[in-house]
Amino acid sequence: MSQGYTLRTFRSEDLNRVMGINFECLPENYSSSFYRELFSRFPETFIVAEADAEIQGYIMCRVERGFSKLRSLSPARLLHVVSIAVREPYRRRGIAKALMLEAMNKGVTAYEATECYLEVRVSNEPAVRLYEDLKFTKTKRNYGYYLDGEDAWVMSALLAKGKIQ
Ligand code: ACO
Ligand code: ZN
Repeated sequence: MSQGYTLRTFRSEDLNRVMGINFECLPENYSSSFYRELFSRFPETFIVAEADAEIQGYIMCRVERGFSKLRSLSPARLLHVVSIAVREPYRRRGIAKALMLEAMNKGVTAYEATECYLEVRVSNEPAVRLYEDLKFTKTKRNYGYYLDGEDAWVMSALLAKGKIQ
């Protein structure tokens, strides 16, 4: 297994592989039309990571108009990270962090997003750590958000105009 990986935007022919990774890594699974819809509306922030000549991780997002979760009553364009996952053998080498940074930068440059947010299971320590590492803060607790009754943290970060490092 090589240590290297590359990022690129999603292509239609990646759909089965990405759905397989989602199924393998997360209990929240979606129909193929859901993936296609996100890709058709927000192709720049649907990104895959390749290593060993295969996709090993993905991130997909949606851009929403709404109000800032960090600055009260400020209108905002919110980059919503709908789902991110990296296959288990490829974890802890920076792939998810790179996917997040790329999506956040593309969210700003392609869709003028001003803020990024997501929901994460309160028990999902690796993911909460990842987002805290990226300067996200817990902005709300959504009680019973998941189908099995677990709560979600909503975590949010402002997106700077310049390139995020
Ligand atoms: N324990 C503690 N900290 C962690 C862990 C962990 N297991 N994993 C990541 N981190 C933190 C660390 O600070 C890490 O930096 P370091 O390795 O230098 O210490 C930093 O996050 C970056 O980690 P990456 O290597 O970029 O993360 P990775 O590629 O391993 O992917 C992910 C993290 C996506 C959470 C992975 O574990 C995964 O796919 N889990 C299952 C699916 C999942 O939970 N997805 C997120 C659901 S929430 C949502 O989709 C919006
Ligand atoms: Zn969400």
